[in-house]
Amino acid sequence: VPLQPWNTFGIAARALNLVRIREVADLLQARSDPALSQAPFFVLGGGSNIVLTGDVKPTVLKMEIKGFRLVEETAKAWIVEAGAGEAWHDCVAWTLRQGYPGLENMALIPGTVGASPVQNIGAYGVELQDRFESLDAVDMATGQVFTLTAEQCAFGYRDSVFKHGAPVTPIEREGVQPLGLAGRAVITHVRFRLPRPWKPELGYLDLERRRAEAGIESPTAQQIFDWVCEIRRAKLPDPAVLGNAGSFFKNPTVTPEQCSDIIAREPRIVHYPMPDGSVKLAAGWLIDACGWRGKTIGKAGVYEKQALVLVNRGTAQDSVTGGEVMTLAKAIQTSVYERFGIRLEPEPVVV
Ligand code: EPU
Repeated sequence: VPLQPWNTFGIAARALNLVRIREVADLLQARSDPALSQAPFFVLGGGSNIVLTGDVKPTVLKMEIKGFRLVEETAKAWIVEAGAGEAWHDCVAWTLRQGYPGLENMALIPGTVGASPVQNIGAYGVELQDRFESLDAVDMATGQVFTLTAEQCAFGYRDSVFKHGAPVTPIEREGVQPLGLAGRAVITHVRFRLPRPWKPELGYLDLERRRAEAGIESPTAQQIFDWVCEIRRAKLPDPAVLGNAGSFFKNPTVTPEQCSDIIAREPRIVHYPMPDGSVKLAAGWLIDACGWRGKTIGKAGVYEKQALVLVNRGTAQDSVTGGEVMTLAKAIQTSVYERFGIRLEPEPVVV
């Protein structure tokens, strides 16, 4: 099965086996199918956070579970549920239309609802964990359907329990619990807690600047949604036009001592103090400072408006390869390390 239409980088690669998952029962069926369950499983959502470096041998589970519903409405919150296969942005738009605001800062993030907790997606001052209630998943090792709370998801910056742990081994099938759920749990539904009364989140500089420009003191959720869409469209490439996987590296954190060291040499470095005392650096700035913005190696390029985004400079017939993307990524990592002594960590999953 060609995977080029199913990954936003537009990399040409194939899956040996692909199963479309439209309901929970499809997962249980795939699990008990002797031909499909021989290989490990690989969960594919919107394909917006992966780099395919070759054909995919694991059985690809393409998540297409749909649906939105209001689960509960209390004086303190709306609890909304969405199917894992819904596009994330459609979920944000649906909740706003229904009058359940709270996800607007995360408008236009590519990918599916099911991927949102894996990555603990976030933008413009709000992370998924700030709006998360619980999720349902299927344990492909045991066939059990289970529910996880926010605490059990162990959310971190672009991180969760779903990113850790070895794939299922025969011994785990016999009941030994691994530490993480990577390669094992498939998320089927996610529930969001949208606090009432709604309050705007305008802490992020770009957004605050946009509000001031508009001269609006108390914006509505819809206005924030529109501004976030505008800001993102101005500096992030639309994958339908130019293949990419969003931010290619995580923003690194350093100790305050490391940070003052770097500031002494690089006074203009963009840095944000974190609540835990560490300091987060803007990876885009580090890459830009090394002169990478707009550069291309082979068919892999650094986006000219945001150095943190790597793009596909090829065509559908002659697309960039995962190998070329990784070569460019390594060259960037090396120059950032040589200049700043900081190791950048890729954000997408390399398959
Ligand atoms: N910058 C540069 N040069 C560049 C790019 C950025 O100097 O080429 C500077 C900017 O001027 C700014 C700073 O770096 O001062 C931060 O840039 P930006 O506001 O664009 O945000 P970011 O830190 O690069 C993060 C997330 C994005 C998210 C935005 C907005 C990560 C890895 N990325 O990017 O998330 O949309 O903040 O909240 O945390 C993603 O995860 O895929 C993603 C796009």
